[in-house]
Amino acid sequence: MRVLMTFALAVVLAAGLWAQAPADNDTLWQQYFTWLKEGDARTHTPLGYRAKLIAGGMTEAQADERMALLHQLSGQHEMEIVELYFDREYTASQADFNTAPNAFVVSMTENLRPGTALDVAMGQGRNALYLASKGWQVTGFDIAQKGLDAAQAEAARRGLHITTVKQGYEDFDFGQEKWDLVVFCYAWVPLSDPALVERVRASLKPHGLVVIEHPAEDPAAPRDPTDEANALLKAWSAGFRVLRYEDTIDEWDWRMRKARVLRLMVEKW
Ligand SMILES: C[S@@+](CC[C@H](N)C(=O)[O-])C[C@H]1O[C@@H](n2cnc3c(N)ncnc32)[C@H](O)[C@@H]1O
Repeated sequence: MRVLMTFALAVVLAAGLWAQAPADNDTLWQQYFTWLKEGDARTHTPLGYRAKLIAGGMTEAQADERMALLHQLSGQHEMEIVELYFDREYTASQADFNTAPNAFVVSMTENLRPGTALDVAMGQGRNALYLASKGWQVTGFDIAQKGLDAAQAEAARRGLHITTVKQGYEDFDFGQEKWDLVVFCYAWVPLSDPALVERVRASLKPHGLVVIEHPAEDPAAPRDPTDEANALLKAWSAGFRVLRYEDTIDEWDWRMRKARVLRLMVEKW
């Protein structure tokens, strides 16, 4: 009996000590990120979390130190943060983007015979649903689950069928000679990365098409390799026939500003 009580006491003490041990970085990140994810987007922000820490008994200096640590840890959780950012976009009461199908995608595909189409980083499916409504067999993928959920809900409402996959372009299996059409519309992917271009080329059927609309920054002050003058065109030239290329100023579908837009349509050659 005495042995049992000593053992039980040891367990209780150990549990107490464990409870008081400072949380490790993973735990601190999970506490923060769970709170961000589960609350209202207007109040569950980094500033809101700092206020919560202070309300919970931290001094301002301690809260600032914790926020600096969380900021540093965010570098290891980029994908989760991007997903949360877009999940919030797709569940906001008012969309901050054009929810109609992209005009360039529509005009480049409206006279085509429907086949198999892949919508890369499809978001809430505005283009995937449009293509499905025109008879295409559409697959789309994205990392934002709420976008995929919205796309499937809208497909059900309109009696359409689309296949959705929750995956990043990094891991998605594009397959071999599978698609008649691949769409990149405001897709957050490295569009001029030769490795990605080659994966897409291999995944296209002979004479398969790629349609891209991409918002870009000033080529004189590039922030991304695709911003460089002619970078998109060069990346998608070898092994393709260029059917359309435009580097212009126009209204963006996302963020609704008038700025540089790149448009490209190529055929596997
Ligand atoms: C600006 S939105 C465009 C969505 C859609 N194509 C459209 O035109 O409405 C960019 C999309 O890229 C997705 N995304 C971000 N990183 C990604 C990744 N690594 N792989 C696949 N999709 C990603 C986001 O979740 C988001 O839905």
